[in-house]
Amino acid sequence: MKFNIALLAGDGIGPEVIEQAVKVSDAVAEKFGHEISWKPALTGAAAIDAVGDPYPDDTHDICASSDAVLFGAIGHPRFDNDPSAKVRPEQGLLKMRKALGLFANVRPTFTFPSLLDKSPLKKERIEGTDLVFLRELTGGIYFGEKGRREEGETAYDNCVYTRKEVQRLAKKGFELAMSRSKKLCCVDKANVLETSRLWRETVQAMEKDYPEVEVSYEFVDAVAMRLVQWPNSYDVLITENLFGDILTDEASVISGSMGLMPSASLGAKIGLFEPIHGSYPQAAGKNIANPMATVLSAAMMFENFGLQDEGKAIRDVVNKALNEGVVTEDLSDGGKAYGTKEVGDWLAENI
Ligand code: IPM
Ligand code: MN
Repeated sequence: MKFNIALLAGDGIGPEVIEQAVKVSDAVAEKFGHEISWKPALTGAAAIDAVGDPYPDDTHDICASSDAVLFGAIGHPRFDNDPSAKVRPEQGLLKMRKALGLFANVRPTFTFPSLLDKSPLKKERIEGTDLVFLRELTGGIYFGEKGRREEGETAYDNCVYTRKEVQRLAKKGFELAMSRSKKLCCVDKANVLETSRLWRETVQAMEKDYPEVEVSYEFVDAVAMRLVQWPNSYDVLITENLFGDILTDEASVISGSMGLMPSASLGAKIGLFEPIHGSYPQAAGKNIANPMATVLSAAMMFENFGLQDEGKAIRDVVNKALNEGVVTEDLSDGGKAYGTKEVGDWLAENI
């Protein structure tokens, strides 16, 4: 097959980890007889510096006309400490999600047998964990009306959901549950929030269309606790934008390193694939960032094209690297640490 992939490296460690994912993807393409044409485009702080917009129209055109987007990270400390900044890199990510209709963010959390000791959680708690969050990505408090009143002394962010938004996300959740262990957990705060009551009511009404799926409804505060207590009791979890943002960072701890967890954002037509870690500015340019989350995001990209063997080839080689200790310093335990580039080279060579 022939693919056009928009390549949005972004900020911080983005460019370094993206470079490794490109190498590994090219190796997979060569092995399986595909052709990838990469289309680099600007985003984040890099795009603000170049053209004053974190998601410029040119970048959108490149994304919209590609088969998928491979994304690094955006964010820069110079904006984090300046609440008055008018343009922020993160706005680019939100604009892109909306413009590309990426309403479903798929964030898996799984353990690697060779890394069970790396998690701050006890091995017997996390063994066998293999769960997926489906986070709603283009609605809720992230996109509601926000502002200040009373001369800036009061601030508000509205949380708004429509039934349709809940339905299309929940549909993906039910379908994913059907392809896995047929267990679905709807995470909300229906004891307090009206939007959560709409979520619960909407999902309840859909249960009859998926009689085989066992659905549970749990409050977000309880899930935050059980997630680290009994992570392997969960399978597919669906939730709204902000709850999903917070819980997926929490869940990533289970795997042992945030540098390992990939994600996919799906919706209308094309998908976007990105590591869940951020731009990690302290590590930028030092060749120490773990590229595996981005490499595994490329695996999700192939799988989303229906190319399961290609995805598996990547997952297998990452496992091999972990087993053989070909890892960056976040996982080296004081032993030999490889550089970002060296891990990428090793993965590509071993495909
Ligand atoms: C994420 C990030 C983003 C979000 C930020 C960078 C806007 O934390 O992808 O989880 O909050 O969605
Ligand atoms: Mn986040």
